[in-house]
Amino acid sequence: MLIVTLALALTGCAETITGDATAGADVFAANCASCHGADGTGDEANGFPNLVEEAPDAAEIEEYVRDGEGVMPAFEGTLDDQEIADVVAYVDGL
Ligand code: HEC
Repeated sequence: MLIVTLALALTGCAETITGDATAGADVFAANCASCHGADGTGDEANGFPNLVEEAPDAAEIEEYVRDGEGVMPAFEGTLDDQEIADVVAYVDGL
């Protein structure tokens, strides 16, 4: 949680946003589950990482969500800062 707050502070947000993992579960279901699975375990055989086992740290998760990677789309502009903080908190807790 501290890392999420710091990462957002470093990206220049005027206010501190705290991620809410419960709200993040809904963001995940709507935006991420199609590739990473409803429970986050993904489909490694087809190139969709298991977010439960690999568990990158919060700053790294946020980078993936904002910028995308490979076939993963960037969510910057699609999700607002609060939704991003929420989904990062959720994935970080998987
Ligand atoms: C269209 C499919 C797709 C969607 C939608 C998607 N991802 Fe991904 N995601 C991927 C793929 C594929 C990778 C691997 C990218 C690579 O390394 O080339 C990835 C990588 C990641 C990683 C890094 C995993 C690791 O161990 O390196 C995280 C974290 C992640 N995604 C989180 C999310 C979150 C959170 C969402 C929703 C906001 C999301 N993804 C939506 C396909 C998707």
